[in-house]
Amino acid sequence: MISMIWAMDENWLIGKDNLLPWHYPTDLAYFKNHTKNQAVLMGDMTYQSLKTYYVTKPLPFKKVYVANIEDKEYTDGYHVKDLFEFLKSTEEDIMIIGGKTIYQLALPYANRLYITYVLKTHEGNVYFPKFDLADFKLIDKTIEDGLIFAVYERKS
Ligand SMILES: NC(=O)c1ccc[n+]([C@@H]2O[C@H](COP(=O)([O-])OP(=O)(O)OC[C@H]3O[C@@H](n4cnc5c(N)ncnc54)[C@H](OP(=O)(O)O)[C@@H]3O)[C@@H](O)[C@H]2O)c1
Repeated sequence: MISMIWAMDENWLIGKDNLLPWHYPTDLAYFKNHTKNQAVLMGDMTYQSLKTYYVTKPLPFKKVYVANIEDKEYTDGYHVKDLFEFLKSTEEDIMIIGGKTIYQLALPYANRLYITYVLKTHEGNVYFPKFDLADFKLIDKTIEDGLIFAVYERKS
């Protein structure tokens, strides 16, 4: 199954330069809980961003795939050069963790979405690409610390 996880504010903001625009410990805990035992896929920009947080510590995932059109070697992850081929052929459960470009390209392949709604507006310059949530049905929703944690599954 292909899943995606992200947090966005009321304007669908997800990033500020190459960082998160906010610091919500409850969301970080939720993210960690849903990704720690997962094979994750991310774009090179998000990988570089995460590496600024995990300078000396290993990335906290079971397996790491990094999408990049350019040839590149990752000491702690597998390079995915052809994103679409990967998404079409993988038999693993994959959690897609960003960023904007990879969310946009991978959305048609995603069966499950974990969206954290930040009930505020923040400053930043990277937005989640608009899409129609009507293609998905809500299967779970919890509210904690001013955040809505919603889970959707693609309608069959
Ligand atoms: N709020 C959240 O939950 C959340 C989560 C994650 C990230 N973010 C934010 O998202 C932002 C980063 O997003 P981004 O769009 O700049 O970068 P990104 O999606 O992390 O990475 C884009 C990478 O994907 C590569 N790529 C593009 N098309 C491809 C294809 N068909 N096959 C393989 N690789 C492909 C690009 O290669 P080329 O460079 O060669 O084109 C580029 O290296 C940051 O601000 C970050 O903080 C937010």
